[in-house]
Amino acid sequence: MSGVGVWNGRYELHRSFLGDTIRNDLYAAAITDAVKPGSHVLDLGSGTGIWACVAARAGAARVVAVEFSDLVEHCRETVARAGLGHIVEVVRADIRELDLPREFDVITHELVGGLVWEEDMIELVHIAASRFLKPGGRVIPHEVRVQMAPWYIADRPYRGGWPDVCGLDFGHLYAAELAQWHATRRAMTFSHTDPTLALADLETVYVARLGTDTVVPASIGFESVATREGVATGVLAAMEIDLGSGRVISTSPFEPPTNWGQLYVPAAEVIELDVGDRVRVEVHPTLSTEGWDVRFTRIDTGSTHSSRR
Ligand SMILES: C[S@@+](CC[C@H](N)C(=O)[O-])C[C@H]1O[C@@H](n2cnc3c(N)ncnc32)[C@H](O)[C@@H]1O
Repeated sequence: MSGVGVWNGRYELHRSFLGDTIRNDLYAAAITDAVKPGSHVLDLGSGTGIWACVAARAGAARVVAVEFSDLVEHCRETVARAGLGHIVEVVRADIRELDLPREFDVITHELVGGLVWEEDMIELVHIAASRFLKPGGRVIPHEVRVQMAPWYIADRPYRGGWPDVCGLDFGHLYAAELAQWHATRRAMTFSHTDPTLALADLETVYVARLGTDTVVPASIGFESVATREGVATGVLAAMEIDLGSGRVISTSPFEPPTNWGQLYVPAAEVIELDVGDRVRVEVHPTLSTEGWDVRFTRIDTGSTHSSRR
């Protein structure tokens, strides 16, 4: 999600962001800690205006709230209703086109999509930090760690679903159903996956340093050791969103649910694992949920389970 068209009128998304108390409490505490009396704060993608107002209440001398969608009018109203119009300036602009002095002590943002490949977070935060942040200034959050693990989800047709009936062989329908499944296979978001479906521990496979990094990787490779016996049908991905001073939002299914949920990417070819089996996982992410690809390679035997369509 990136262009203004996908953000206009998305009240239901903003309602879900405001309904995420884990997110809100950690963001509010991190911003309140970082903003000092007299600080200048730049709030990227202000949306409803929540973090701009929190920064103003924390003692900021000036807050610039930037929002490119039609939510900007509601952002202005939030600021006015809070009586913070003398501190918060709301600007309707694309972050890429902002023209501001380099005078900000703190940059706040919640441009964290389902994972780091969405919402142009890395590009936008880098633009803002490199142009407008004072040396030694803070970016909140400053790091997003992507975690992944082989996972089991009953997501695909299985041969046993087409048994012989009345002495007739229906196996050809399984093949057709499987071909259809392959053609429509895509990554999907779960609000809270059953953690007992993990085949291995979640590993940190990529660290995005916000304000510093300029691009997201085109592929991710990692090794995993099975912690239980079962069939890995794909990869589950979660994040740790680091707000500094030990405040971390985890979207792992082993932690209480947040609005982000987890992304599950089905592999075309499953792999059977025993406890202790080592597997090499190659993931090819894309900007949308379409076109993600996962390939498993068993490390001890060298047998390859290709999942390329
Ligand atoms: C995930 S929402 C966060 C809203 C609010 N900051 C919050 O945390 O509840 C991201 C916001 O960033 C805005 N946004 C995304 N890309 C932008 C860009 N390039 N320039 C300005 N605003 C942008 C969207 O319109 C959306 O309101």
